[in-house]
Amino acid sequence: MYNTLHTYLTDNILTITINRPDKLNAINKVVMSELDEVVNEIYLNKEIKGAILTGAGAKAFVAGADISEFQGLSREEGEVLSRIGQEIFYRIENSPKPIIAAVNGFALGGGCELAMACHFRLCSPNAKFGQPEVNLGVIPGYGGTQRLTRIVGKGKAIELMLTGRMMDAQEALQAGLVNYIIEADELLTKAREILSIIGEKAPLAVAKIIECANLSEDGSIGDGFIYEQEAFGECFATEDMKEGASAFLAKRKPVFKGR
Ligand code: COA
Repeated sequence: MYNTLHTYLTDNILTITINRPDKLNAINKVVMSELDEVVNEIYLNKEIKGAILTGAGAKAFVAGADISEFQGLSREEGEVLSRIGQEIFYRIENSPKPIIAAVNGFALGGGCELAMACHFRLCSPNAKFGQPEVNLGVIPGYGGTQRLTRIVGKGKAIELMLTGRMMDAQEALQAGLVNYIIEADELLTKAREILSIIGEKAPLAVAKIIECANLSEDGSIGDGFIYEQEAFGECFATEDMKEGASAFLAKRKPVFKGR
């Protein structure tokens, strides 16, 4: 179905592997357009309750945008390349279903930006994160200047982006860029475990939590509170909320239906 992605759906979880291991899974045009398609699949396929993004091979998650496609681009073409990547990554970030990055090696440039667009990140001990674009005379263009700053703080983000240096897994954990460091052969199992826990929750509540948390990074806290009130109210209009409260009071496990 895809040329550069390998996907499989099991237990309502879609595992997506970017599959160009001989180029360290660099994101070329085909990968980007297939990421667009797979994001549509996540949004539209009711069987999918969550997704995992990872890279093929033992060495890299994604080593960045494909540098061989940079040559000869005009200023306008550069801008379009950035906009396309930003839009697709924005849809990942705003997916109503959780998307976890399982970072199994280098996550550089566009790879770090892709991981940051996911809702959260797990990584293997050999993972390396960085925004080395400055070494090529460019800047992070798929949202990195905005997301890295929000995740690790402005001072650290600017230092990383100006020097292009890589962070190892421990530093990424300390900086809040990853939630857990997991042995490489357990990485996907851990991601699936987390997604299956989330999969038992009420889907509308899951979607609203993601929406409200994303909104906390834009605008004022007051606007965020208003949005939170509306979202909270919407939950009360669902059958799932009634089921959740009744199940708690009856001391049984809730069965959510997504309604
Ligand atoms: N774009 C295109 N090709 C890439 C790539 C990228 N971002 N990253 C790696 N590759 C290719 C290499 O060109 C090489 O291809 P080849 O075997 O046909 O020569 C192959 O992947 C393996 O990479 P190599 O550099 O030989 O591996 P390494 O272990 O020596 O180094 C890295 C690993 C990640 C440190 C190094 O590949 C690198 O610096 N990559 C670029 C990272 C970057 O600047 N990303 C931001 C892009 S905007």
